[in-house]
Amino acid sequence: MVGRSNVGKSSLINALVRQPLARTSAAPGKTRLANFYRVQRAGHPPFYLVDLPGYGYARGGEAARATFDQLAAEYFASHRGATLLLVDSRHPALDADARAWAWLVDHGVTCHVVATKVDKLTQAERRRHLGEMERRYSGPVSAVSAHTGEGLEALWTQIARLLEQPPPTAPPPPPSRSRSISPPSKS
Ligand code: GTP
Ligand code: MG
Repeated sequence: MVGRSNVGKSSLINALVRQPLARTSAAPGKTRLANFYRVQRAGHPPFYLVDLPGYGYARGGEAARATFDQLAAEYFASHRGATLLLVDSRHPALDADARAWAWLVDHGVTCHVVATKVDKLTQAERRRHLGEMERRYSGPVSAVSAHTGEGLEALWTQIARLLEQPPPTAPPPPPSRSRSISPPSKS
C-alpha cells in the first residue's frame, strides 16, 4: 500500500483483514517503517500486504519527496509486482499523488488506485471525484471506506487479480516485523 500520510493505509489493512494489526492515528506520519503482514486466505496462496510509510508528511516538500523516492526505490527494486495506490477521495487531484503514480508506472510497478474515506463524500461528490480520479489515473478506481466496510469485498477481488500477474523477480526478504494472519473467508 502506497499513499500520502494519513490517507488511511493502515486503517485499510485492518479493515481488509478485520483485525487491528496496523497502528493508525489521526495525526499524519504514524507509520515510519515498512510493515509486512503475511495474509493467508482460504483456498489462495499466501501473500504480503505491505504498509509503507506515507509520503508528503515531512516538512518541506522536497525533503518529503526525496524520502519517498528513496524508500520507494529501495522497496520496489526488489518487489516489482503490483501495489495499491491510496488516494483520499476528498482530494482527487493532488500533485503528490499524481507524482507517486507516475513514479510507480515509470518503474514498472502495476498500480491500482483506491479511493479512501468515501464515507466522507456526498453522492454528488462521489460521482465527480471518482470520475476525476479514473480520468487522471486512466483506469478503474476502487472506492472504499475502512470505517463502514464499503467496497472491501470488491477490493479483495481486485487484489486477487493483481496477484495473478507474473510474480516479482525476487521473493520478499524476511520481514523484520511481520505476523501471520488468517482473515475471515467470505461468508
Ligand atoms: P500514516 O501511517 O501516517 O502514513 O497514515 P495512514 O495512511 O496509515 O492513515 P491511518 O490509517 O493511520 O488513518 C489516518 C486517519 O484517517 C485516522 O484518523 C483514521 O481513523 C482516518 N480514516 C482512515 N480510513 C478512514 C475511512 O475510511 N473513513 C474515515 N472517515 N476516516 C478514515
Ligand atoms: Mg499508517
